[in-house]
Amino acid sequence: MWLPCGCTSKAIVTSSACPVFKSYFRVFGRWKCNVAAFMPEAAGFEGVKDFSSLQEFSVSNSESFWAAAARSRLSWIRPFHTVQHCDLSRGKIKWFEGGQLNVSVNCLDRHVHTSPERVALIWERDEPGSEVKVTYRELLETTCRLGNLLRRRGVKKGDCVTIYMPPCPLAVASMLACARIGAAHNVVFAGFSAEALAERIRDAESSTVITVNQGVRAGKVTELKRTVDAAVQDCPTVQQVLVAMRTENPVAMTAKDVDMEEEMLKEDVVCEPAAMNSEDVLFLLYTSGSTGKPKGVVHTQAGYLLYAALTHRYVFSYQDGDVFGCVADIGWITGHSYSVYGPLANGGTTVLFESTPIYPDPGRYWEMVQRLKINQFYGAPTAIRLLLKYGDQWVQKYDRSTLKTLGSVGEPINTEAWEWYYRVVGDGRCPVVDTWWQTETGGICITPRPSDPDAEIVPGMAMRPFFGIKPILMDTKGKVVTSNPASGALCIAKPWPGMARSIHNNHQRFIETYCQPHPGYFFTGDGAYRSKEGYYQITGRLDDVINVSGHRIGTAEIEDVVNQCNAVAESAVIGYSHDIKGQGVYAFVVLKKGVDDQEADLSQQLNIMVSKKIAKYACPDFIQFVQRLPKTRSGKIMRRVLRKVVERDLNGLGDLSTLDDPSTVQEIIQGHRELF
Ligand code: WTA
Repeated sequence: MWLPCGCTSKAIVTSSACPVFKSYFRVFGRWKCNVAAFMPEAAGFEGVKDFSSLQEFSVSNSESFWAAAARSRLSWIRPFHTVQHCDLSRGKIKWFEGGQLNVSVNCLDRHVHTSPERVALIWERDEPGSEVKVTYRELLETTCRLGNLLRRRGVKKGDCVTIYMPPCPLAVASMLACARIGAAHNVVFAGFSAEALAERIRDAESSTVITVNQGVRAGKVTELKRTVDAAVQDCPTVQQVLVAMRTENPVAMTAKDVDMEEEMLKEDVVCEPAAMNSEDVLFLLYTSGSTGKPKGVVHTQAGYLLYAALTHRYVFSYQDGDVFGCVADIGWITGHSYSVYGPLANGGTTVLFESTPIYPDPGRYWEMVQRLKINQFYGAPTAIRLLLKYGDQWVQKYDRSTLKTLGSVGEPINTEAWEWYYRVVGDGRCPVVDTWWQTETGGICITPRPSDPDAEIVPGMAMRPFFGIKPILMDTKGKVVTSNPASGALCIAKPWPGMARSIHNNHQRFIETYCQPHPGYFFTGDGAYRSKEGYYQITGRLDDVINVSGHRIGTAEIEDVVNQCNAVAESAVIGYSHDIKGQGVYAFVVLKKGVDDQEADLSQQLNIMVSKKIAKYACPDFIQFVQRLPKTRSGKIMRRVLRKVVERDLNGLGDLSTLDDPSTVQEIIQGHRELF
């Protein structure tokens, strides 16, 4: 098997001549002879001598494993009395009951005690070279001022504050200020439209929104406050909007608006942290499912924080003093767990990236790696695919010798992109960790590391379960597949602390989506392949969720918008394989009878509607107008057939006998040919 360290056989990999082995030997110290040096808690785990016994222990003795980790890695106000109290089949998940803690104290105060002047955040602003560094002391003070301001303005424990901001220190302080006073936060990606924002504010029942006057990305200014103004008009619950100034341009302020920074100056830099129960809500984060309505995934305090911290430390082998560069937006779960909570819980230095991979040129990431001396870089395959097309020179121009680990997240990474990342970006020195996880899992669940330092990494495979994770594959009959190699629906057999607890205001939907498809298991919605060696590879979603440039979107959400157009009778949206974006959006649209065939105008109109109601990334790349959609006799649209037409796999159309009228398919094939 081809080995990522460039060695050709396993025997060579284990020798110290192998560069990957050498760097790992440094990183992990002497854990091979002393597992406690790798994970100090392991000293108390019976029978744990090496990495694989530690992994086994974490699954078979998960209570002891997580209890030890929770005691040593989190600071508690009151210790927990029950490690876990879970019943997966009923969607009941509780960890560390009886315990009380404050997440902001864990992320800030305890590090301020030991090293107040350590840099917590590096705000990599849009303009290269204009970064701002924020120490732990400064971040705590800012968080406290904001916590006091929120409290003074009536935000109480249990309320939910919506945050609509690009990555910046005040966004992080807003998240932590909520955590400090016991409010939940609901960060909405600042690329979402006013309508999408309004829907999320309403569902979360927020009375307070925090935003900035304008955003700046790739040299362009976006009117974020104006978007909030439009959203808030449809949100009767909103009483106040706190506005920070990202640019110097003044914006119109309404009676509800508060000049956040001016008001913060009046506040004290000390703010009493709320004592939160382990299972109180920390945040909601809306994500797409297979139905039209986005769901507010609920994460709670202790379990989430512990899982984010542990995965951040071990998947990336983060060492004290390292600079961690996760380039995801804070509006997504990756930003929550690996730009904010994981690194800060570990007392790390974390980068907040405001720009794009190609601004001002395709060398941006690597110039940043050089300038900020980044040690772990964590990004999305879509960006890697885009950058590799610009050529190696944009990478080689810059010194990347500080890099130790390269991470990938959000979608499958194809072999070409993996190899380029490994060979060109990492100079063949750094392990590439292709990390599989979801908004619902809270943190990374399948990943090549941690593992033996000499363990192989197969390009494009997420490889192995993280501590405490027991993945299983389910066949189409609902039976667990035990043999290898195998494919099936990816489920997780045991609860883990980082997993979602519910869907906001709809626990039944949580149970139906994740717990009922395979009772007793957490169903991920993804399909996976397990090789004969037992390594996992994620093969993609099994439901109608697609992944565009790493952004997750339900095809039903796009159809909902398209169907709202007066001229449209019905539509079917599918994902298709796209060179750069991973998946693109392809819409089949049936017009109402008698509608003038102004297809070009209509296409434009539909695109505007999707970008207004959802976001730009959800806009169809192709719209094909059709007379009819292929449907079964019971009226179900056969998306499988549409996918095959778009993939031009006409031999793979499969059984068409259940179609109401098979001639529809010929019409669609013909129309598709005419479009290209
Ligand atoms: C997909 C992002 C293949 C998967 C953290 C999952 C991946 C969905 C990978 C979750 C990966 C994530 N390989 N597919 N390494 N990581 N996915 O909630 O389909 O935005 O279900 O969380 O992204 O997307 P979400």
